[in-house]
Amino acid sequence: MPIKLPFLGKKNKHKQKQQDALQKEALPKHVAIIMDGNGRWAKKRGMPRVAGHKEGMSNVKKIVTAASGYQLEALTLYAFSTENWRRPKAEVDYLMKLPMEFLNTYLPELVEKNVKVQTIGRFDGLPKHTRDAVEKAKDRTKGNTGLILNIALNYGSRNELMEAMKSFLNDVQAGNKSAEDLNEESFSEYLYTKNLPDPDLLIRTSGEQRLSNFLLWQSAYTELWFTDVLWPDFDEQLFEKALSDYQKRKRRYGGI
Ligand code: IPE
Ligand code: IPE
Ligand code: MG
Repeated sequence: MPIKLPFLGKKNKHKQKQQDALQKEALPKHVAIIMDGNGRWAKKRGMPRVAGHKEGMSNVKKIVTAASGYQLEALTLYAFSTENWRRPKAEVDYLMKLPMEFLNTYLPELVEKNVKVQTIGRFDGLPKHTRDAVEKAKDRTKGNTGLILNIALNYGSRNELMEAMKSFLNDVQAGNKSAEDLNEESFSEYLYTKNLPDPDLLIRTSGEQRLSNFLLWQSAYTELWFTDVLWPDFDEQLFEKALSDYQKRKRRYGGI
């Protein structure tokens, strides 16, 4: 069944064609995005890097709205990696204020759109004001049944896998688990993403073609999609292009 896109003008023939091409039943359930290129976006304009982060934050709203319009099950956004602490303190401090700013500004709209806010990553490593804002958003949206907006904050795959192994070992030591209990499915239960399907599509902006420690376990069979466009310039049309390209891929999972 062709899907109706709220933001496409009917007069645009090309867009209409693309719209017809998007099949609702073949849309990805879970899209993950590495929102990269904020710093370069600002540099190109002679602005400080943080101006790029601010613009990037406003762009999040646009893409969340689109994802919710497509009725995707989950959208995971890489907002801050465990390696991003290596940046200058002033930039890190600014980045840590963004979730609060984003949620303070857009929480009513997220609630209205039936979006459920979740996070993945090391929560206890975040400043209190960041944790408070996120807790509030999670609490206010916990009963929502629409798009899961999953924010990867202080997230790193290697850290996640290591923590999972530690938890499993603790369960073994406590006598609740044994080595025989470990399989791909049961191991996934120890990850931050335990309540989510694996991402079907992973988008990275800004021309870099690497995972940067993002969802390494979960992306085993994820379709990867790259664009040179910098995150603040990534818009609904490009998002739609990624989805339509995804629909043309043949996923084989090792089969034929
Ligand atoms: C992505 O933009 C945002 C974060 C990593 C927090 P960058 O800040 O990495 O921007 P570039 O890659 O330096 O342009
Ligand atoms: C990945 O981007 C992390 C986020 C987008 C939050 P980086 O800009 O940190 O990645 P590298 O350092 O270029 O690999
Ligand atoms: Mg970057």
